[in-house]
Amino acid sequence: MTNPSAGLDPIETASTDEIRALQLTRLKQTVQHAFDRVQPFQDKCKAIGVTPNDLQHLEDIARFPFTLKDDLRANYPFGLTAVPMEDVVRIHASSGTTGKPTVVTYTQNDIDNWAHLVARSIHASGGTRNDIIQIAYGYGLFTGGLGAHYGAEKLGCTVVPISGGQTEKQVQLIRDFKPRIIMVTPSYMLNVLDQMEREGMDPKTSSLEIGIFGAEPWTDSMREEIETRGGMHAVDIYGLSEIGGPGVANECIESKDGPVIWEDHFYPEIIDPVTGEVLPEGEYGELVFTTLTKEALPMIRYRTRDLTRLLPPTSRSMRRIDKITGRSDDMLIIRGVNVFPSQIEELVLKVEGLAPHYQLVVDRDGHMDRLSVSVERREGTSDSDGAAMADALQARIKAQVGVSTRIDVRAPGGVERSQGKAKRVIDQRSDG
Ligand code: DLL
Repeated sequence: MTNPSAGLDPIETASTDEIRALQLTRLKQTVQHAFDRVQPFQDKCKAIGVTPNDLQHLEDIARFPFTLKDDLRANYPFGLTAVPMEDVVRIHASSGTTGKPTVVTYTQNDIDNWAHLVARSIHASGGTRNDIIQIAYGYGLFTGGLGAHYGAEKLGCTVVPISGGQTEKQVQLIRDFKPRIIMVTPSYMLNVLDQMEREGMDPKTSSLEIGIFGAEPWTDSMREEIETRGGMHAVDIYGLSEIGGPGVANECIESKDGPVIWEDHFYPEIIDPVTGEVLPEGEYGELVFTTLTKEALPMIRYRTRDLTRLLPPTSRSMRRIDKITGRSDDMLIIRGVNVFPSQIEELVLKVEGLAPHYQLVVDRDGHMDRLSVSVERREGTSDSDGAAMADALQARIKAQVGVSTRIDVRAPGGVERSQGKAKRVIDQRSDG
């Protein structure tokens, strides 16, 4: 009936050989461009004795130095920009928790490619030019809002650029404009669903059929929660400012089996986060990207700190990433045990009666780190139900993650809500 590849870029279904050939051509150009125009990169290459001529095969990229967030900070604001500032048409920045923001720059071609990839991502998520799309990612220096916006317009959608926050207004516009698609962080989507319910509306009856969720780690249990409560598809969009913003990878709605990396624009590697060695395909480690078309800010082997693995192609010819288990920065080590917020999320969602809102609080008891989990019970449950939920969650975490925790079950609404990216960890270790 319908042609499944209608509206796809030919490269999305090209052969692996074609994709690898395009990647090699573009990789050589990018490395040469960065070497010629970005002095700090050239210096690093010279220090270890590599030149762009050493890049003959894709795997040779492993001979080149990594780029770290600290390199962006050390060269703040524009030291890694590879074009004259008059060719830069846009700047974004990520706030970070400490110190200077990380600044990223774009030429007009960079903006056009980015919009194209976000349009491709929305299409993979099931969107078409006939759709009204509500964009509830924050607009501004964050790449989420404007990145989504330009992509949705490029696809030809009708854009509702509400940005993040104003939850009541979000619901009002959903009622009035009837968007079929929303782009928002999964944690803020939960807020929107709560607000609908507070207003006596069953979220399943809203016009929303597809949510394109990203900008923070979220689990398949969270997907199930949103899909069931919201009566909608929850599709994963991945990206990071340093590599361009949202739309580095996006899931296909027909398979929902992990974001497809748009490999014609980004070359992925998985490395051992400790040794920096490239790991065999399929193993878990830290995701590293080299941009293949970026003019203003070519990134060579950028260490994302995101932990995942590469998966073989399914709905498209390009490889996928598994759901991000977490960032190495967010990993807590509690009495020798590694703990990721996503592990706790899975378990919170398994305890009947607990709402999908949670925060981890780490503090210190003498020399020992202590982990508390703040959660809340769902509407219609009582304090005494809450005590049983606490016991159940504590036992599950002990059995499956291997740490003892204190569980603080609060009344509905008791856990801080996010307006964008959720803050999952509160670290109260004073020297920590
Ligand atoms: O969060 C870009 C973005 C906006 C992606 C909107 C998707 C949707 P940054 O603020 O630079 O950029 O944060 C990037 O967020 O390294 C991951 O740790 C995390 N992240 C982004 N998307 C996902 C996802 C944007 N789908 C950092 N799953 C990344 C898990 C994600 N983590």
